Amino acid sequence: MGVGFSMCSAAISTEDAMIRVAVAVALIGLALIGSSVHAQTSLTPIDRGQRLYQLNCLHCHGAALDGKGPDAASFDPPPANFHSYLSRVKGNDQIEYTIKQGKRFLGMHNWSDTLTDKEVQDLVAYIRDAAPQVDVK
Ligand code: HEC
Repeated sequence: MGVGFSMCSAAISTEDAMIRVAVAVALIGLALIGSSVHAQTSLTPIDRGQRLYQLNCLHCHGAALDGKGPDAASFDPPPANFHSYLSRVKGNDQIEYTIKQGKRFLGMHNWSDTLTDKEVQDLVAYIRDAAPQVDVK
């Protein structure tokens, strides 16, 4: 009798332990989901700009930002090389303006309809990170 009772309570405590483990696993899972969501929202402007660039600009301006994307051959003048001196002397606001307005007769269309101001700023951050602006005095 005494033995039976203690076995019974052992069984309950095992079940209890399993529930605790299940709850712990669920909590860890939630924590992981939470941290991956957090990781997505804490991307830097440069990271976000790089994604936007790869989606929208790479096929003309090239993976290396050198104006030699797969579609570049059909443009004359070619898409801008962001490493060129002429591009790097331009101010960030000038680059931002060109992205928004496009260059109508050169094949670079305007992005003000499709991208938000913040997305354009992220693109500039990425372009400047890969090809820093030069100071002219
Ligand atoms: C269809 C091809 C094409 C696409 C797509 C394209 N561009 Fe261009 N881009 C051009 C061409 C052509 C020029 C003109 C080159 C010149 O000014 O000599 C240009 C010029 C520019 C300039 C001016 C360069 C400078 O130094 O003054 C910027 C900035 C620019 N593009 C940014 C972008 C960004 C950012 C994207 C993506 C959102 C993009 N472009 C998408 C073709 C393209």
